[in-house]
Amino acid sequence: MFTFYDFYNNEVKLSFSDHPFSTSPKHVWVISRFKEKWLLTEHKDRGLEFPGGKVEEGETPEEAAKREVMEETGGVVEDLTYIGQYYVDGKGGCIIKNIYFAHIEDLTSQPNYYETKGPVCLSELPSTIKRDSSFSFMMKDAVLPHSLEYLKKAQLL
Ligand code: GTP
Repeated sequence: MFTFYDFYNNEVKLSFSDHPFSTSPKHVWVISRFKEKWLLTEHKDRGLEFPGGKVEEGETPEEAAKREVMEETGGVVEDLTYIGQYYVDGKGGCIIKNIYFAHIEDLTSQPNYYETKGPVCLSELPSTIKRDSSFSFMMKDAVLPHSLEYLKKAQLL
């Protein structure tokens, strides 16, 4: 278990064990790869981030993950792997989010990308994300580096 503070100074607990905080989390985040590149979305307010969002009524977290990738990037998920979960003790309440790793088999063009400007493919994730205002706050805490390290160790990258 890792404990740290996010961009807004909220406490975050992160674990790569099997659903440590909730078996029915209400949020999902999908670290996505398409054709040897990272697939992100450009949120209209927050900036560049991996796709994700809220689990809707009647949906499983896996279904939500696939839907969010499609809505925010047009990406068709080929395979989705649960890697971990985090808990944010936010000012407006707590959220629990599943982290997935996905390979995207196709990037389809969508008439709209909801609250985002659509897909952005990057060959590399810059080392300067923390101080780069084009990236979302979600990309600026220790969830991303710990997740990338986990993926490398698990030989998923
Ligand atoms: P909408 O209901 O979609 O308009 O958004 P919201 O900002 O009210 O709600 P959400 O439930 O998505 O998030 C509530 C708060 O939790 C946010 O304002 C953030 O402070 C925090 N939060 C949500 N997702 C993350 C995340 O991935 N990382 C971190 N560190 N905080 C998050």
